Amino acid sequence: MSTPYLPHCFAASPEEHTLPVGNYAWCSCGLSADGVFCDGAHKGTTFRPTIMKITDQPETCTLCRCKRTNTAPFCDGSHINL
Ligand code: FES
Repeated sequence: MSTPYLPHCFAASPEEHTLPVGNYAWCSCGLSADGVFCDGAHKGTTFRPTIMKITDQPETCTLCRCKRTNTAPFCDGSHINL
């Protein structure tokens, strides 16, 4: 059994994105180059990306970059406590 550890805090603020219809992989480890979307940087860790699906029409989303949210991939304000 591996020791649980916290993800890397990429930034203590969210980032807003308007995303076209499609599937997206939100970075949960905080190690990706842009801190928002998975680029495979979690390799070798226990973290996995969170898949989000945008259907019907483009959506504007406020995406967590601190990786402490309880509503991944969306910011829930947890970054305020960092
Ligand atoms: S940026 Fe992570 S909860 Fe706001």
